[in-house]
Amino acid sequence: MGRPSTAAVILAAGKGTRFKSDLAKVLHRVGGRSLLHHMLASIQPAGFDQVIVVIGHQEDDVRAELDAIGMDVDVVVQSEQLGTGHAAEVALPALHDGIERVAVLAGDTPLLLPPTLGAFLDEDADVVMLVTEVDDPTGYGRVVRKGDNVARIVEHKDATADELLIREINTSMYVFPVEGLADVLASIGADNAQGERYLTDAIAAFLDRGATVSTIRAPHDEVAGINDRAQLAEAGAILRQRILQQHMVDGVTIVDPATTWIQADVKIAADAVILPNSHLEGSTTVGAGATVGPNCRLVDTSVGEGANVVWTVADRAEIGSRANVGPFTYLRPGTRLAAGTKAGGFVEMKNAEVGEGSKVPHLSYIGDAVIGKDVNVGAGTITCNYDGFDKHQTVIGDGAFIGSDTMLVAPVEIGSGAVTGAGSAITEDVPDDALAVERAEQQNLEGWAARQREQHATRRKED
Ligand code: UD1
Ligand code: CA
Repeated sequence: MGRPSTAAVILAAGKGTRFKSDLAKVLHRVGGRSLLHHMLASIQPAGFDQVIVVIGHQEDDVRAELDAIGMDVDVVVQSEQLGTGHAAEVALPALHDGIERVAVLAGDTPLLLPPTLGAFLDEDADVVMLVTEVDDPTGYGRVVRKGDNVARIVEHKDATADELLIREINTSMYVFPVEGLADVLASIGADNAQGERYLTDAIAAFLDRGATVSTIRAPHDEVAGINDRAQLAEAGAILRQRILQQHMVDGVTIVDPATTWIQADVKIAADAVILPNSHLEGSTTVGAGATVGPNCRLVDTSVGEGANVVWTVADRAEIGSRANVGPFTYLRPGTRLAAGTKAGGFVEMKNAEVGEGSKVPHLSYIGDAVIGKDVNVGAGTITCNYDGFDKHQTVIGDGAFIGSDTMLVAPVEIGSGAVTGAGSAITEDVPDDALAVERAEQQNLEGWAARQREQHATRRKED
Protein backbone atom coordinates (compact mmCIF):
# COMPACT_ATOMS: atom_id res chain seq x y z
CA MET A 1 0.00 0.00 0.00
CA GLY A 2 1.21 3.45 -0.85
CA ARG A 3 4.42 2.35 -2.53
CA PRO A 4 5.36 4.94 -5.20
CA SER A 5 4.99 3.77 -8.76
CA THR A 6 8.22 1.86 -9.46
CA ALA A 7 9.84 0.42 -12.56
CA ALA A 8 12.46 -2.31 -12.51
CA VAL A 9 15.39 -1.92 -14.88
CA ILE A 10 17.33 -5.14 -15.32
CA LEU A 11 20.82 -4.77 -16.71
CA ALA A 12 21.48 -7.71 -18.99
CA ALA A 13 23.52 -6.34 -21.88
CA GLY A 14 26.94 -7.57 -20.81
CA LYS A 15 28.82 -10.46 -22.37
CA GLY A 16 29.83 -12.18 -19.16
CA THR A 17 33.52 -12.34 -20.08
CA ARG A 18 34.35 -14.49 -17.05
CA PHE A 19 32.08 -17.28 -18.37
CA LYS A 20 34.48 -17.74 -21.32
CA SER A 21 31.48 -18.68 -23.40
CA ASP A 22 29.98 -18.05 -26.82
CA LEU A 23 26.63 -17.79 -25.07
CA ALA A 24 25.60 -14.51 -23.37
CA LYS A 25 25.78 -14.88 -19.60
CA VAL A 26 22.07 -14.35 -18.92
CA LEU A 27 21.22 -17.21 -21.32
CA HIS A 28 23.19 -19.80 -19.35
CA ARG A 29 20.80 -22.26 -17.77
CA VAL A 30 20.60 -23.78 -14.35
CA GLY A 31 17.75 -25.78 -12.81
CA GLY A 32 15.86 -25.76 -16.12
CA ARG A 33 15.74 -22.01 -16.66
CA SER A 34 18.02 -19.32 -18.02
CA LEU A 35 19.54 -16.85 -15.55
CA LEU A 36 17.33 -14.20 -17.11
CA HIS A 37 14.24 -16.32 -16.48
CA HIS A 38 15.20 -16.91 -12.84
CA MET A 39 15.85 -13.19 -12.47
CA LEU A 40 12.43 -12.21 -13.86
CA ALA A 41 10.70 -14.90 -11.78
CA SER A 42 12.43 -13.65 -8.61
CA ILE A 43 11.13 -10.10 -9.03
CA GLN A 44 7.63 -11.05 -10.14
CA PRO A 45 6.14 -11.16 -6.60
CA ALA A 46 7.15 -7.51 -6.12
CA GLY A 47 4.56 -6.42 -8.69
CA PHE A 48 6.59 -3.71 -10.42
CA ASP A 49 4.57 -1.19 -12.42
CA GLN A 50 6.91 -1.67 -15.37
CA VAL A 51 9.83 -3.98 -16.12
CA ILE A 52 12.53 -2.90 -18.55
CA VAL A 53 15.29 -5.27 -19.63
CA VAL A 54 18.45 -3.73 -21.06
CA ILE A 55 19.95 -6.10 -23.58
CA GLY A 56 22.91 -5.83 -25.96
CA HIS A 57 25.29 -8.74 -26.26
CA GLN A 58 23.59 -11.43 -28.42
CA GLU A 59 20.57 -9.21 -28.66
CA ASP A 60 18.54 -11.54 -30.90
CA ASP A 61 19.04 -14.61 -28.74
CA VAL A 62 18.19 -12.71 -25.56
CA ARG A 63 15.06 -11.34 -27.24
CA ALA A 64 14.04 -14.86 -28.26
CA GLU A 65 14.51 -16.03 -24.67
CA LEU A 66 12.37 -13.14 -23.40
CA ASP A 67 9.65 -14.19 -25.87
CA ALA A 68 9.89 -17.76 -24.61
CA ILE A 69 9.65 -16.62 -20.98
CA GLY A 70 6.52 -14.73 -21.97
CA MET A 71 6.46 -12.11 -19.20
CA ASP A 72 5.34 -8.58 -19.95
CA VAL A 73 8.60 -6.61 -20.27
CA ASP A 74 9.89 -3.69 -22.31
CA VAL A 75 13.19 -4.21 -24.07
CA VAL A 76 15.85 -1.55 -24.52
CA VAL A 77 19.05 -2.10 -26.48
CA GLN A 78 22.44 -0.91 -25.25
CA SER A 79 24.41 -1.46 -28.45
CA GLU A 80 27.80 -0.70 -26.93
CA GLN A 81 28.44 -1.87 -23.38
CA LEU A 82 30.03 1.24 -21.91
CA GLY A 83 29.31 0.33 -18.29
CA THR A 84 26.46 -0.15 -15.84
CA GLY A 85 25.86 3.62 -15.57
CA HIS A 86 25.44 3.88 -19.31
CA ALA A 87 23.17 0.80 -19.33
CA ALA A 88 20.83 2.44 -16.81
CA GLU A 89 20.86 5.66 -18.84
CA VAL A 90 19.71 4.02 -22.08
CA ALA A 91 16.67 2.62 -20.23
CA LEU A 92 15.35 6.04 -19.17
CA PRO A 93 13.52 7.01 -22.41
CA ALA A 94 11.46 3.80 -22.13
CA LEU A 95 10.02 4.69 -18.71
CA HIS A 96 6.26 5.05 -18.69
CA ASP A 97 4.75 8.38 -17.69
CA GLY A 98 3.99 8.54 -13.99
CA ILE A 99 6.80 6.22 -12.88
CA GLU A 100 8.34 7.84 -9.79
CA ARG A 101 11.17 5.47 -8.94
CA VAL A 102 13.50 3.11 -10.75
CA ALA A 103 14.86 -0.05 -9.17
CA VAL A 104 18.01 -0.93 -11.09
CA LEU A 105 18.89 -4.62 -10.75
CA ALA A 106 21.77 -6.62 -12.17
CA GLY A 107 20.65 -9.38 -14.54
CA ASP A 108 23.12 -11.82 -13.01
CA THR A 109 21.62 -11.88 -9.51
CA PRO A 110 18.67 -14.30 -9.60
CA LEU A 111 18.37 -15.45 -5.97
CA LEU A 112 16.47 -12.56 -4.35
CA LEU A 113 13.55 -13.63 -2.17
CA PRO A 114 10.31 -11.65 -1.78
CA PRO A 115 10.83 -10.47 1.84
CA THR A 116 14.21 -8.91 1.00
CA LEU A 117 12.89 -7.34 -2.18
CA GLY A 118 9.88 -6.02 -0.22
CA ALA A 119 12.04 -4.42 2.48
CA PHE A 120 14.24 -2.90 -0.21
CA LEU A 121 11.28 -1.36 -2.04
CA ASP A 122 9.51 -0.20 1.13
CA GLU A 123 12.52 1.63 2.58
CA ASP A 124 11.76 5.33 2.87
CA ALA A 125 14.67 7.28 1.36
CA ASP A 126 15.44 9.01 -1.94
CA VAL A 127 18.01 6.37 -2.83
CA VAL A 128 18.08 2.84 -1.41
CA MET A 129 21.01 0.48 -1.87
CA LEU A 130 20.84 -3.24 -1.28
CA VAL A 131 24.10 -4.22 0.40
CA THR A 132 25.54 -7.31 2.03
CA GLU A 133 28.54 -8.30 4.08
CA VAL A 134 30.92 -11.02 2.93
CA ASP A 135 34.06 -12.63 4.31
CA ASP A 136 35.84 -12.32 1.00
CA PRO A 137 34.82 -9.13 -0.85
CA THR A 138 37.24 -9.70 -3.74
CA GLY A 139 35.89 -8.27 -7.00
CA TYR A 140 32.93 -6.43 -5.49
CA GLY A 141 32.30 -2.71 -5.12
CA ARG A 142 32.90 -1.62 -1.50
CA VAL A 143 30.47 0.57 0.43
CA VAL A 144 32.52 3.47 1.78
CA ARG A 145 30.92 5.13 4.83
CA LYS A 146 31.57 8.33 6.70
CA GLY A 147 30.44 7.51 10.19
CA ASP A 148 27.16 5.67 9.75
CA ASN A 149 26.33 7.26 6.43
CA VAL A 150 27.16 5.98 2.99
CA ALA A 151 29.63 8.27 1.20
CA ARG A 152 30.18 6.42 -2.06
CA ILE A 153 30.92 3.05 -3.63
CA VAL A 154 34.40 2.20 -4.80
CA GLU A 155 35.07 -0.63 -7.24
CA HIS A 156 37.63 -3.27 -6.29
CA LYS A 157 40.01 -2.20 -9.05
CA ASP A 158 39.87 1.45 -7.94
CA ALA A 159 40.04 0.90 -4.18
CA THR A 160 42.87 1.94 -1.88
CA ALA A 161 44.51 -0.62 0.40
CA ASP A 162 42.28 0.55 3.27
CA GLU A 163 39.11 0.40 1.18
CA LEU A 164 39.95 -3.14 0.07
CA LEU A 165 39.51 -4.23 3.70
CA ILE A 166 35.83 -3.18 3.70
CA ARG A 167 33.58 -6.22 3.78
CA GLU A 168 30.30 -4.41 3.19
CA ILE A 169 29.67 -4.64 -0.53
CA ASN A 170 27.38 -3.29 -3.21
CA THR A 171 24.97 -5.88 -4.65
CA SER A 172 24.30 -3.77 -7.74
CA MET A 173 20.65 -3.23 -6.82
CA TYR A 174 19.42 0.25 -6.13
CA VAL A 175 16.24 2.29 -5.97
CA PHE A 176 16.62 5.75 -7.49
CA PRO A 177 14.10 8.58 -7.79
CA VAL A 178 13.21 9.40 -11.39
CA GLU A 179 13.60 13.06 -10.53
CA GLY A 180 17.21 14.01 -11.17
CA LEU A 181 18.18 10.52 -12.37
CA ALA A 182 18.83 11.58 -15.97
CA ASP A 183 21.13 14.38 -14.81
CA VAL A 184 22.96 12.13 -12.39
CA LEU A 185 23.53 9.39 -14.98
CA ALA A 186 24.63 11.92 -17.62
CA SER A 187 27.21 13.27 -15.17
CA ILE A 188 28.92 9.88 -14.72
CA GLY A 189 32.28 9.72 -16.47
CA ALA A 190 34.65 6.85 -17.20
CA ASP A 191 37.72 8.08 -15.38
CA ASN A 192 38.48 4.86 -13.52
CA ALA A 193 40.58 1.72 -13.73
CA GLN A 194 38.22 0.00 -16.20
CA GLY A 195 37.37 3.05 -18.32
CA GLU A 196 33.67 2.29 -17.81
CA ARG A 197 30.76 4.48 -16.79
CA TYR A 198 30.00 3.00 -13.36
CA LEU A 199 26.44 3.13 -12.04
CA THR A 200 28.05 2.99 -8.60
CA ASP A 201 29.08 6.64 -9.06
CA ALA A 202 25.38 7.59 -8.97
CA ILE A 203 25.42 7.23 -5.17
CA ALA A 204 27.95 10.02 -4.58
CA ALA A 205 26.26 12.13 -7.26
CA PHE A 206 22.87 11.85 -5.55
CA LEU A 207 24.45 12.67 -2.17
CA ASP A 208 26.00 15.80 -3.75
CA ARG A 209 22.50 16.86 -4.76
CA GLY A 210 21.30 16.53 -1.17
CA ALA A 211 19.42 13.24 -1.61
CA THR A 212 19.04 10.83 1.30
CA VAL A 213 20.69 7.42 0.79
CA SER A 214 19.71 4.44 2.87
CA THR A 215 20.91 0.82 2.82
CA ILE A 216 19.10 -2.47 3.28
CA ARG A 217 21.19 -5.49 4.17
CA ALA A 218 20.44 -8.75 2.36
CA PRO A 219 21.63 -12.28 3.18
CA HIS A 220 24.59 -12.90 0.93
CA ASP A 221 23.20 -16.04 -0.72
CA GLU A 222 20.28 -13.98 -2.08
CA VAL A 223 22.44 -11.37 -3.75
CA ALA A 224 25.50 -13.25 -4.96
CA GLY A 225 26.31 -12.06 -8.47
CA ILE A 226 26.99 -14.84 -10.95
CA ASN A 227 30.12 -13.99 -12.89
CA ASP A 228 31.57 -17.40 -13.73
CA ARG A 229 30.55 -21.05 -13.99
CA ALA A 230 31.56 -21.92 -10.44
CA GLN A 231 29.15 -19.24 -9.17
CA LEU A 232 26.54 -20.56 -11.61
CA ALA A 233 26.81 -23.99 -9.98
CA GLU A 234 26.61 -22.45 -6.48
CA ALA A 235 23.46 -20.56 -7.43
CA GLY A 236 22.07 -23.75 -8.99
CA ALA A 237 22.59 -25.56 -5.68
CA ILE A 238 20.72 -22.85 -3.76
CA LEU A 239 17.84 -22.83 -6.26
CA ARG A 240 17.66 -26.61 -6.15
CA GLN A 241 17.38 -26.69 -2.34
CA ARG A 242 14.64 -24.07 -2.45
CA ILE A 243 12.66 -26.06 -5.02
CA LEU A 244 12.98 -29.32 -3.03
CA GLN A 245 12.04 -27.51 0.17
CA GLN A 246 8.93 -25.98 -1.43
CA HIS A 247 7.71 -29.35 -2.74
CA MET A 248 8.15 -30.92 0.71
CA VAL A 249 6.25 -28.01 2.32
CA ASP A 250 3.53 -28.61 -0.28
CA GLY A 251 3.12 -32.26 0.76
CA VAL A 252 5.43 -34.18 -1.57
CA THR A 253 7.56 -36.93 0.00
CA ILE A 254 11.14 -36.64 -1.21
CA VAL A 255 12.94 -39.59 0.28
CA ASP A 256 16.46 -38.39 -0.48
CA PRO A 257 16.77 -34.69 -1.32
CA ALA A 258 20.52 -35.14 -1.79
CA THR A 259 20.03 -37.21 -4.95
CA THR A 260 16.79 -35.69 -6.24
CA TRP A 261 16.92 -33.05 -8.96
CA ILE A 262 13.74 -31.15 -9.70
CA GLN A 263 13.71 -28.25 -12.13
CA ALA A 264 11.91 -24.99 -11.48
CA ASP A 265 8.83 -25.54 -13.68
CA VAL A 266 7.99 -29.09 -12.52
CA LYS A 267 4.64 -29.51 -10.76
CA ILE A 268 4.02 -32.28 -8.23
CA ALA A 269 0.75 -32.94 -6.40
CA ALA A 270 0.56 -33.63 -2.68
CA ASP A 271 1.15 -37.22 -1.57
CA ALA A 272 3.33 -38.04 -4.53
CA VAL A 273 6.51 -39.87 -3.51
CA ILE A 274 9.83 -39.19 -5.21
CA LEU A 275 12.40 -41.92 -4.58
CA PRO A 276 16.18 -41.43 -4.70
CA ASN A 277 18.23 -40.48 -7.72
CA SER A 278 15.34 -39.08 -9.74
CA HIS A 279 15.54 -36.19 -12.18
CA LEU A 280 12.31 -34.35 -12.99
CA GLU A 281 12.84 -31.81 -15.72
CA GLY A 282 11.16 -29.23 -17.92
CA SER A 283 7.36 -29.13 -17.71
CA THR A 284 7.03 -32.54 -16.02
CA THR A 285 3.98 -33.03 -13.80
CA VAL A 286 3.34 -35.76 -11.23
CA GLY A 287 -0.17 -36.54 -9.96
CA ALA A 288 -1.34 -37.20 -6.42
CA GLY A 289 -0.24 -40.47 -4.91
CA ALA A 290 2.09 -41.34 -7.78
CA THR A 291 5.50 -42.83 -7.06
CA VAL A 292 8.51 -41.87 -9.18
CA GLY A 293 11.89 -43.56 -8.83
CA PRO A 294 14.30 -44.72 -7.84
CA ASN A 295 16.47 -43.80 -10.80
CA CYS A 296 14.14 -41.99 -13.18
CA ARG A 297 14.73 -39.17 -15.61
CA LEU A 298 11.46 -37.60 -16.73
CA VAL A 299 11.54 -34.68 -19.19
CA ASP A 300 8.36 -32.79 -20.12
CA THR A 301 6.42 -35.88 -19.04
CA SER A 302 3.11 -36.16 -17.21
CA VAL A 303 2.57 -38.86 -14.61
CA GLY A 304 -1.05 -39.53 -13.63
CA GLU A 305 -2.47 -40.03 -10.17
CA GLY A 306 -1.38 -43.21 -8.45
CA ALA A 307 0.98 -44.24 -11.24
CA ASN A 308 4.20 -46.06 -10.41
CA VAL A 309 7.27 -45.22 -12.48
CA VAL A 310 10.52 -46.93 -11.64
CA TRP A 311 13.98 -46.86 -13.26
CA THR A 312 12.61 -45.14 -16.35
CA VAL A 313 13.74 -42.55 -18.87
CA ALA A 314 10.82 -40.65 -20.41
CA ASP A 315 10.83 -37.69 -22.75
CA ARG A 316 7.59 -35.89 -23.68
CA ALA A 317 5.49 -38.89 -22.67
CA GLU A 318 2.10 -39.11 -20.97
CA ILE A 319 1.75 -41.76 -18.29
CA GLY A 320 -1.86 -42.31 -17.25
CA SER A 321 -3.24 -42.75 -13.78
CA ARG A 322 -2.40 -46.03 -12.04
CA ALA A 323 -0.09 -47.01 -14.92
CA ASN A 324 2.95 -49.15 -14.09
CA VAL A 325 6.17 -48.26 -15.88
CA GLY A 326 9.60 -49.86 -15.57
CA PRO A 327 12.08 -50.95 -14.58
CA PHE A 328 14.47 -50.19 -17.47
CA THR A 329 11.83 -48.61 -19.68
CA TYR A 330 12.39 -45.91 -22.29
CA LEU A 331 9.39 -43.80 -23.27
CA ARG A 332 10.19 -41.49 -26.17
CA PRO A 333 8.22 -38.48 -27.46
CA GLY A 334 4.58 -39.09 -28.27
CA THR A 335 4.12 -42.09 -25.98
CA ARG A 336 0.67 -41.95 -24.40
CA LEU A 337 -0.15 -44.58 -21.85
CA ALA A 338 -3.81 -44.55 -20.77
CA ALA A 339 -5.04 -45.34 -17.26
CA GLY A 340 -4.13 -48.70 -15.77
CA THR A 341 -1.63 -49.63 -18.49
CA LYS A 342 1.71 -51.34 -18.12
CA ALA A 343 5.02 -50.74 -19.89
CA GLY A 344 7.44 -53.16 -18.30
CA GLY A 345 11.11 -54.08 -18.30
CA PHE A 346 13.20 -53.34 -21.38
CA VAL A 347 10.29 -51.85 -23.28
CA GLU A 348 10.89 -48.90 -25.61
CA MET A 349 8.00 -46.86 -26.99
CA LYS A 350 7.77 -43.91 -29.34
CA ASN A 351 4.74 -42.13 -30.80
CA ALA A 352 2.54 -44.86 -29.41
CA GLU A 353 -0.90 -44.72 -27.88
CA VAL A 354 -1.72 -47.52 -25.47
CA GLY A 355 -5.40 -47.87 -24.49
CA GLU A 356 -6.82 -48.34 -21.03
CA GLY A 357 -5.80 -51.52 -19.25
CA SER A 358 -3.43 -52.69 -22.01
CA LYS A 359 -0.11 -54.26 -21.13
CA VAL A 360 3.29 -54.37 -22.79
CA PRO A 361 5.13 -56.15 -20.00
CA HIS A 362 8.49 -57.34 -21.40
CA LEU A 363 11.22 -56.66 -23.96
CA SER A 364 9.29 -54.89 -26.71
CA TYR A 365 9.66 -52.03 -29.15
CA ILE A 366 6.39 -50.24 -29.87
CA GLY A 367 6.73 -47.31 -32.30
CA ASP A 368 4.12 -45.46 -34.40
CA ALA A 369 1.35 -47.60 -32.99
CA VAL A 370 -2.22 -47.27 -31.76
CA ILE A 371 -3.12 -50.01 -29.30
CA GLY A 372 -6.74 -50.35 -28.12
CA LYS A 373 -8.05 -51.30 -24.69
CA ASP A 374 -7.22 -54.46 -22.75
CA VAL A 375 -4.64 -55.66 -25.23
CA ASN A 376 -1.86 -57.99 -24.12
CA VAL A 377 1.38 -57.65 -26.03
CA GLY A 378 3.59 -60.68 -25.49
CA ALA A 379 7.27 -60.59 -24.59
CA GLY A 380 9.64 -59.66 -27.38
CA THR A 381 7.03 -58.15 -29.70
CA ILE A 382 8.39 -55.59 -32.17
CA THR A 383 6.53 -53.13 -34.35
CA CYS A 384 8.66 -53.07 -37.50
CA ASN A 385 7.73 -49.46 -38.25
CA TYR A 386 10.62 -48.49 -40.52
CA ASP A 387 11.20 -49.97 -43.95
CA GLY A 388 14.44 -48.13 -44.50
CA PHE A 389 12.67 -45.19 -46.14
CA ASP A 390 9.48 -44.34 -44.29
CA LYS A 391 7.77 -44.92 -40.96
CA HIS A 392 4.48 -46.85 -40.94
CA GLN A 393 1.74 -47.39 -38.42
CA THR A 394 0.58 -50.46 -36.52
CA VAL A 395 -3.00 -50.55 -35.23
CA ILE A 396 -4.13 -53.15 -32.69
CA GLY A 397 -7.83 -53.46 -31.82
CA ASP A 398 -9.39 -53.78 -28.35
CA GLY A 399 -8.86 -57.06 -26.55
CA ALA A 400 -6.32 -58.45 -29.03
CA PHE A 401 -3.65 -60.89 -27.82
CA ILE A 402 -0.25 -60.53 -29.47
CA GLY A 403 1.79 -63.71 -29.04
CA SER A 404 5.34 -63.50 -27.78
CA ASP A 405 7.99 -62.52 -30.31
CA THR A 406 5.50 -61.32 -32.91
CA MET A 407 6.98 -59.07 -35.61
CA LEU A 408 4.29 -56.61 -36.68
CA VAL A 409 5.47 -55.39 -40.08
CA ALA A 410 3.80 -52.01 -40.56
CA PRO A 411 1.60 -50.80 -42.02
CA VAL A 412 -0.54 -53.48 -40.47
CA GLU A 413 -3.79 -53.75 -38.53
CA ILE A 414 -4.73 -56.40 -36.00
CA GLY A 415 -8.49 -56.67 -35.46
CA SER A 416 -10.29 -56.54 -32.13
CA GLY A 417 -10.13 -59.78 -30.21
CA ALA A 418 -7.64 -61.25 -32.71
CA VAL A 419 -4.67 -63.44 -31.69
CA THR A 420 -1.24 -63.75 -33.27
CA GLY A 421 0.80 -66.93 -32.88
CA ALA A 422 4.09 -66.64 -31.02
CA GLY A 423 7.06 -66.04 -33.31
CA SER A 424 4.95 -64.89 -36.28
CA ALA A 425 6.04 -62.18 -38.70
CA ILE A 426 2.70 -60.53 -39.43
CA THR A 427 2.69 -58.64 -42.74
CA GLU A 428 -1.03 -58.79 -43.59
CA ASP A 429 -3.97 -57.30 -41.71
CA VAL A 430 -5.68 -59.71 -39.30
CA PRO A 431 -9.53 -59.71 -39.13
CA ASP A 432 -11.38 -59.32 -35.81
CA ASP A 433 -11.34 -62.45 -33.64
CA ALA A 434 -9.05 -64.38 -36.06
CA LEU A 435 -5.85 -66.26 -35.24
CA ALA A 436 -2.90 -65.31 -37.45
CA VAL A 437 0.05 -67.70 -37.51
CA GLU A 438 3.03 -67.24 -39.78
CA ARG A 439 5.81 -69.75 -39.26
CA ALA A 440 7.13 -73.05 -40.70
CA GLU A 441 5.36 -76.16 -39.54
CA GLN A 442 7.19 -77.91 -36.72
CA GLN A 443 8.92 -81.26 -37.42
CA ASN A 444 9.94 -83.62 -34.60
CA LEU A 445 12.78 -85.98 -35.62
CA GLU A 446 12.46 -88.89 -33.16
CA GLY A 447 15.73 -89.92 -31.45
CA TRP A 448 17.82 -87.37 -33.38
CA ALA A 449 19.44 -85.79 -30.35
CA ALA A 450 20.34 -89.13 -28.75
CA ARG A 451 21.99 -90.30 -31.99
CA GLN A 452 24.07 -87.11 -32.10
CA ARG A 453 25.35 -87.68 -28.60
CA GLU A 454 26.24 -91.31 -29.35
CA GLN A 455 28.21 -90.40 -32.49
CA HIS A 456 30.09 -87.75 -30.59
CA ALA A 457 31.03 -90.15 -27.79
CA THR A 458 32.29 -92.80 -30.28
CA ARG A 459 34.51 -90.22 -32.08
CA ARG A 460 36.13 -89.22 -28.80
CA LYS A 461 36.96 -92.84 -27.90
CA GLU A 462 38.65 -93.39 -31.29
CA ASP A 463 40.84 -90.22 -30.89
C1 UD1 B 1 28.86 -4.72 -10.30
C2 UD1 B 1 29.09 -3.43 -9.51
C3 UD1 B 1 29.77 -3.78 -8.20
C4 UD1 B 1 28.96 -4.78 -7.41
C5 UD1 B 1 28.71 -6.02 -8.27
C6 UD1 B 1 27.71 -6.93 -7.54
C7 UD1 B 1 29.43 -1.63 -11.17
C8 UD1 B 1 30.44 -0.76 -11.80
N1 UD1 B 1 29.92 -2.54 -10.27
O1 UD1 B 1 30.13 -5.24 -10.64
O2 UD1 B 1 29.91 -2.58 -7.41
O3 UD1 B 1 29.64 -5.15 -6.23
O4 UD1 B 1 28.11 -5.64 -9.53
O5 UD1 B 1 27.51 -8.12 -8.20
O6 UD1 B 1 28.27 -1.50 -11.44
N2 UD1 B 1 25.85 -4.61 -17.81
C9 UD1 B 1 25.19 -4.01 -18.85
N3 UD1 B 1 25.85 -3.09 -19.61
C10 UD1 B 1 27.14 -2.74 -19.40
C11 UD1 B 1 27.82 -3.35 -18.30
C12 UD1 B 1 27.16 -4.28 -17.52
O7 UD1 B 1 24.05 -4.29 -19.11
O8 UD1 B 1 27.64 -1.88 -20.14
C13 UD1 B 1 25.14 -5.58 -16.96
C14 UD1 B 1 25.79 -6.95 -16.98
O9 UD1 B 1 25.23 -7.74 -18.01
C15 UD1 B 1 25.44 -7.48 -15.58
C16 UD1 B 1 25.29 -6.24 -14.73
O10 UD1 B 1 25.17 -5.15 -15.61
O11 UD1 B 1 24.21 -8.18 -15.59
C17 UD1 B 1 26.48 -6.03 -13.80
O12 UD1 B 1 27.67 -5.96 -14.59
P1 UD1 B 1 28.98 -6.77 -14.20
O13 UD1 B 1 30.01 -6.55 -15.25
O14 UD1 B 1 28.66 -8.15 -13.83
O15 UD1 B 1 29.42 -5.94 -12.90
P2 UD1 B 1 30.35 -6.43 -11.73
O16 UD1 B 1 31.77 -6.36 -12.15
O17 UD1 B 1 29.88 -7.71 -11.20
CA1 CA C 1 28.24 -9.20 -11.77
